[in-house]
Amino acid sequence: MCGIVGYIGNEQAAPVLLDGLARLEYRGYDSAGVAVYDGKEIEVVKSKGKLAVLSDMIHGGKDIKGTVGIGHTRWATHGAPSDTNAHPHLSQSGRFAVVHNGIIENYLELKQRLMSKGIEFLSETDTEVIAHMVEYYYKGDIFDTMVKVLNRVEGSYALGVISVDNPDEIVAVRKDSPLIVGTSENGNFIASDVPAILNKTRDVYYLEEKEIVFLRRDGVEIYNFDREPVKKDLTHIDWDADAAEKGGYEHFMIKEIMEQPKAIANTVESRIKNGRIVLDNITLTAEQIKSFDKIYIIACGSAYHAGMVGKYVLEQLTRKPVEIDLASEFRYRSPIVTDKTLVIAVSQSGETADTLAAMNEAKRLGARTLSIVNVVGSAIAKQSDDVIYTLAGPEIAVATTKAYSCQLAVFYLLALYIAQETKIIDCDKLNDMINELLLIPEKVQSILDKKEDIQYFASRHFADKDIFFIGRNLDYAVCLEGSLKLKEISYIHSEAYAAGELKHGTISLIEDGTLVVAVATIDRLFEKTMSNVVEVITRGATVLGVTKETKTIMADTCNFIFYVPESIDIFMPSLSVIPLQLFGYYVASMKGCDIDKKRNLAKSVTVE
Ligand code: M6R
Repeated sequence: MCGIVGYIGNEQAAPVLLDGLARLEYRGYDSAGVAVYDGKEIEVVKSKGKLAVLSDMIHGGKDIKGTVGIGHTRWATHGAPSDTNAHPHLSQSGRFAVVHNGIIENYLELKQRLMSKGIEFLSETDTEVIAHMVEYYYKGDIFDTMVKVLNRVEGSYALGVISVDNPDEIVAVRKDSPLIVGTSENGNFIASDVPAILNKTRDVYYLEEKEIVFLRRDGVEIYNFDREPVKKDLTHIDWDADAAEKGGYEHFMIKEIMEQPKAIANTVESRIKNGRIVLDNITLTAEQIKSFDKIYIIACGSAYHAGMVGKYVLEQLTRKPVEIDLASEFRYRSPIVTDKTLVIAVSQSGETADTLAAMNEAKRLGARTLSIVNVVGSAIAKQSDDVIYTLAGPEIAVATTKAYSCQLAVFYLLALYIAQETKIIDCDKLNDMINELLLIPEKVQSILDKKEDIQYFASRHFADKDIFFIGRNLDYAVCLEGSLKLKEISYIHSEAYAAGELKHGTISLIEDGTLVVAVATIDRLFEKTMSNVVEVITRGATVLGVTKETKTIMADTCNFIFYVPESIDIFMPSLSVIPLQLFGYYVASMKGCDIDKKRNLAKSVTVE
């Protein structure tokens, strides 16, 4: 996820762009840049690091002259954060500058084609192909050029383009990535999100898919790809800026919960090509994979919980033994790791001190390392032998939700990839699983569409003192995450138990009205978990059952039931975790907790 701003008008563009980017920095903060047309050529200034670095370089924009420009704040996906990979990107001759938010999925193929025509690439980004293609196809008509380029591009984009040939306009277009247009007497704007322009104008057009807009000093024109003008109503924004930065949501956490269908789709879809899992950037060969006699997963907190799901899934699909350990334990207990061990480190931030140290300890012992990380270019990503990025975009809320969901998605991809490369699963079964994996985002969306059911249930329980979660196997792993979500943001005491374990002690804590959340989504274990549900109900518990749509029988026993769609057992955690995240969020919200800024906690734990 990146942030885009563009401005054409009567004011100097650079300060306007910097001000807009500052309000979009939540969308990406590993590098930033601006491109401004100064009457002769396009001047580009960009820099790795926070926006403040760029702003200092150009004295708040005062050093750059010109009244038309585009700016970008980057969240790296293709190519590590660096000055060169930062946007805007220029075409070969410097006549066109481009900013982009999204992922160009076929960029490698396009890049090779352009390189075969002698075009030189400076960056490792997918975006640079757009800048070169625009120049390559430009024959005097920028509209035709954009349509030609975009018909050749697969993936998602919000694009802003300025050119020396058409110095009095900005061209912008969107597909699957957000882009809005702002209008005012002093000029016109594009932006990834409303807050970027809120102190300049409150009148905006929301662009639809594949709409192309031409911004000039005195107005804007919007067309579809068939060159037909599109008439739109202006929307007047009356939110305050703070709410707008959260896209209208009250907290980043709920915004990020709601972003999960998109985040999972981004993580999965770009790795499935022609029905096969393609992990372009990992160097592990089928022979190396076969040679591993053990897989170790190391992580902390929610990433550890994702790893628990990963363990079950990897064991089931690859038939290799998988151990999981908390990174803070692993590093101090002389783990049995050899050069035949694959060690997988999982971390949203890629900076967690315990996970980094544990991974380096594994390397020292001769293991091959692979990391699953969200922040591109972070320490864990850089120091592991291979990295598979979760494409969740920046996660602001300290309580992780979308990054956790994307970690699950990467475990599914990895397990299916290993099964595919080692041919351990027959082709038909593998295809069925891949097809099912592609359906997860829409199934998650269907759960989010019923969020009010969970909100209502939360309204009955936000004053509870103790809440237990029970489940077996993959459901147990999800319970651990559900319990952590609830307690970290609502400060309600909560524990998760493997359902069969409760009666070995903790059942003594169940008394009249104690809430137990029972997750039962695995067909072959359903009856077993139901026996444990009956045990707690007999002792007075109130039970929220979370199960598949077909298991309506659970409603006869539980006080409240929440159904999630059917899927293959291994994918059920991606679905059953959603009502638990929502429950934690709504309980905390009803208690009036400061959800995005929990006491005692930081987003990135860089100390031991
Ligand atoms: O950045 P990491 O994924 O390595 O962080 C690990 C844990 O600190 C993290 O998952 C933490 O438990 C979550 N923020 C809880 O929601």
